[in-house]
Amino acid sequence: MTIIEAKNYEDLSMKTAALIGAQILKRPNSVLGLATGSSPVGAYRELIKWNQNGSIDFSKVTTINLDEYVGLSTENPQSYHYFMHENLFNHVNIRKSAVHVPPGSDYDMQKACDDYEKLIEDVGGIDLQLLGIGLNGHIAFNEPDDHFPPKTHVVKLTESTIDANARFYNSRDEVPKSAITMGIGTIMKARSIILIASGANKIKILEEALSGPVTPQIPASVLQYHNDLTVIYCK
Ligand code: F6R
Repeated sequence: MTIIEAKNYEDLSMKTAALIGAQILKRPNSVLGLATGSSPVGAYRELIKWNQNGSIDFSKVTTINLDEYVGLSTENPQSYHYFMHENLFNHVNIRKSAVHVPPGSDYDMQKACDDYEKLIEDVGGIDLQLLGIGLNGHIAFNEPDDHFPPKTHVVKLTESTIDANARFYNSRDEVPKSAITMGIGTIMKARSIILIASGANKIKILEEALSGPVTPQIPASVLQYHNDLTVIYCK
């Protein structure tokens, strides 16, 4: 495990983008596992800049996102589809057919989950997975539980996650109550992982996850078992 303390959010974003950019330079047809949330926005901004000035080419890159809310259409500004297009895909030369976000409004969600696992296999697995961490230790939408979910599945969101997301909605009632998410097993299969955390309020959970016992009560703690994990954080 490599742990890097960044000076501030800008520095964290630059370092994260540098590692993602290096991955694309090394392997232009990389499969990137991407996250939404506030943590990666700055890194995406850097990558857009580097793409637009010709330093980084996304034309052969494939992306696989971690998760999506159930019940939101792709055009809903609160959906992760929308977020990813706004914050990255619309601004870089990636093929639209090469971007993948789990479907949040599929009729048969179990089939949607199975298809997503198959998709990841078909593209040859994820080379580099970017992760944020929730205040309760969740990664993607894998919430504290009594086991580590192996595969892509549908989850009921916890009250604390619904509370944290409420800031993006007019009222708490509008916040989706379930989501489709890669499982912990799916995430752990990525060949390398970058976990980013920004802000003093993330330090306690980060310490618990990285140096406490490995337990599904703190889903991110499983990352201690990954053999190519880089953690970048700032206070
Ligand atoms: C988003 C995701 C979530 C976030 C986590 C941290 O795709 O999977 O697990 O990474 O909730 O969110 P921020 O970055 O907003 O603190």
